[in-house]
Amino acid sequence: MTFDAHPRSSLIVALDFDSLPSAVKFAKQIADLVGMFKIGNQLFTAAGPAAVKEVAALGPGIFLDLKFHDIPNTVAGAVLSAAAMTGVQLVNVHALGGTAMLRAAVQAISAGVPMGADRPRLLAVTILTSMDQKSMKEVGIGGPPKSRVLKLAKLTQSAGVDGVVASVQEAKAIRKLCGREFLIATPGVRPKQKNSQEPQDDQARTATPREAIKAGADFIIVGRPILAASDPRTAAQEIVDEIASAKS
Ligand code: C5P
Repeated sequence: MTFDAHPRSSLIVALDFDSLPSAVKFAKQIADLVGMFKIGNQLFTAAGPAAVKEVAALGPGIFLDLKFHDIPNTVAGAVLSAAAMTGVQLVNVHALGGTAMLRAAVQAISAGVPMGADRPRLLAVTILTSMDQKSMKEVGIGGPPKSRVLKLAKLTQSAGVDGVVASVQEAKAIRKLCGREFLIATPGVRPKQKNSQEPQDDQARTATPREAIKAGADFIIVGRPILAASDPRTAAQEIVDEIASAKS
């Protein structure tokens, strides 16, 4: 799959809504300004595959952010079903599922796609950004989070996964370790004025769109700065403009 070179193609807006009508109503307002919409566990659990169908019909691609983590056979089945949905361009799994699970997901993402046709890309979540060293230790994962993240990024790449979801703080090192082709999607992005004056919601470590692109992100994932804006179109357009200027 080749992603459009327009700066908007790097913007993924998280549709964190509890019902499909409210998600679609919102998505319609900004559909021409974004590269993809992210449908996560909240909306997918509430509305199911209909959410993908209705949102994809608005034009942008879909990042189906369901973070699969199960035995290889089950994950392969889930990835196969996700990849078969029209409009899905990104699907993800947890790297902590291990090599066999990752390989099963890699095989499934291409299965059933005709030769030469586009296939969705597969991303992995390394360590959840909500985990710190203490909470990692509690579940038996030692060492500083960043070195774990890098080891897991390399493991996923060796298994054939296309990229990772990672914080901007980790993006530069992942880019260096895994090379130019490896995809990096970064959440926790907050436009500048919000960074300096307003609360950061529950994101502990944030970065501006410019910082994310400069750190090597291919995609930035933005939720509340657009969802909660008084003028979502302007908020989205300002982020696209910042992406464009960071890339030039
Ligand atoms: O509202 P906000 O911009 O913080 O939304 C970020 C989105 O990215 C949410 O949908 C959240 O679930 C998702 N996400 C995240 N951190 C990760 C992976 C995904 O914040 N490590």
